[in-house]
Amino acid sequence: MDIAEISKQLEDTGYIVLAKPLADDLLEKLFARCQDDPARFHAAQVGRGAAKREIGSIRGDVIDWLDADNSSDRIYLACMDELRLGLNAALFLGLFDYECHYAIYEKGAGYAKHSDVLQGKKNRILTTVLYLNKDWQAANGGELVVYDPTGMSVIARVNPAFGTMIIFLSESFPHEVLTSLATRRSITGWFRVSGS
Ligand code: OGA
Ligand code: MN
Repeated sequence: MDIAEISKQLEDTGYIVLAKPLADDLLEKLFARCQDDPARFHAAQVGRGAAKREIGSIRGDVIDWLDADNSSDRIYLACMDELRLGLNAALFLGLFDYECHYAIYEKGAGYAKHSDVLQGKKNRILTTVLYLNKDWQAANGGELVVYDPTGMSVIARVNPAFGTMIIFLSESFPHEVLTSLATRRSITGWFRVSGS
């Protein structure tokens, strides 16, 4: 990954879309891993604490957190840790760790417009999404739509094509996943600072 380029773009605009920052063999491993055992996946939840609940109408994906004991997951986690250290050196972000999960949106699923920074949980600094969809067709929908910080205007539309990665400031950009008309796979993660 070109950490200098990523740092500069994050500093200038707060987000970057990378066409293919990772090696093909790693992408193949992650692609396979995403499908090795459907039973690993469970409905994602929205909200925290007592308000935590599954709401298919807001968010229709199923997820599974990466596992440091899995050899494929470990390679990805190592790449992201290298990025974490590089971003800390370049931007003094003080990123402390990285958490990430596979996500699968089956046909008809999407994720309504939201912010990744939950109330009372402000330690998510940067969001990353890596897409794992071979031969993705525009007609499949499933675009990630990113809004400016006011939430009023669209600043980016990202096709979830194989190998594409977006990185953005978690607190600054509301975003949504348009209804997907085909199975849509990804790894979503967050670089966090330590604390509350
Ligand atoms: C999320 C999310 C975007 C995407 O999981 O919080 O916004 O494109 N994902 O999958
Ligand atoms: Mn999100």
